[in-house]
Amino acid sequence: MPTILDGKATSIALQEQIGEEVKSWTASGGKKPHLAAILVGDDGASQTYVNHKVKACEKVGFASTLKRFPADISEEALLAEVEAINANDDIDGLIVQLPLPGHINVTKVTDKIRPEKDVDGFHPINVGRMTLGQPAYIAATPFGIMKLLEQYKVETAGKHCVVIGRSDIVGRPMSILLSQKGTPGDCTVTICHSRTKNLKEMTLQADIVVAALGIPEFLKGDMVKEDAVVIDVGITRVEDASKKSGFRLVGDVAYEEVAPKSSFITPVPGGVGPMTIASLLYNTLQSAKKVIF
Ligand code: GUN
Repeated sequence: MPTILDGKATSIALQEQIGEEVKSWTASGGKKPHLAAILVGDDGASQTYVNHKVKACEKVGFASTLKRFPADISEEALLAEVEAINANDDIDGLIVQLPLPGHINVTKVTDKIRPEKDVDGFHPINVGRMTLGQPAYIAATPFGIMKLLEQYKVETAGKHCVVIGRSDIVGRPMSILLSQKGTPGDCTVTICHSRTKNLKEMTLQADIVVAALGIPEFLKGDMVKEDAVVIDVGITRVEDASKKSGFRLVGDVAYEEVAPKSSFITPVPGGVGPMTIASLLYNTLQSAKKVIF
């Protein structure tokens, strides 16, 4: 059976480390790190994620500000809110929870965030720096996956990694990080997406598969080779009347079929998800300490 890549335990350990760093930073006169989050609309999943982020801030000794706006806020008004936080010297990091309502241009909003406060790593300056291997805020999900691979000393050098999904915030940055020099890294990377013709042929060649396409239980047992490392980025809410919440979380990997064939695998929940929180906190502490910019 595989080794479970326990994102929850790893995230808790990282958050404890961050908490200790905050204590010594503030004890020596440093400013308490402060994360601001903007949430537009009332999507249940987005509310849950933002609440987790705010709670995690409290846990590690950060200040946090949550700004909520109705789904019909104008693009102009939202951009003005971003500008106001950009100008607020007390705030170190700003995230705008995605997705945003259809009438708002996401790129306009993420481009408006000052790169120095862009702890989500979505701004072209941070994406460009990350791509060039320069100091940058790296998007929380790919960064969290790299930390998890590092924690479990998963061998990546020379391995063939197949990333399924080419999103700006997961698939593409993941492919870049895994191909870069270093540990983890030094992979040969293939990116697959909705137009890939022979996906199963690709995944069957993979030593490492990162499933980040957002289709529940897409990656089946017959699509992975023996001893593959399987990273499941998917997190879809599927109705389940037997649960108190009315839903359960399902990943992009058919876990029961894939786990017995894999050497390492991330569970859902408790895998990649919690690591994104630790990464966001890490970036915010870097910002308060002005390490990157
Ligand atoms: N929506 C899904 N993932 C993310 C993330 O990492 N950051 C933000 N801001 N929104 C998201």
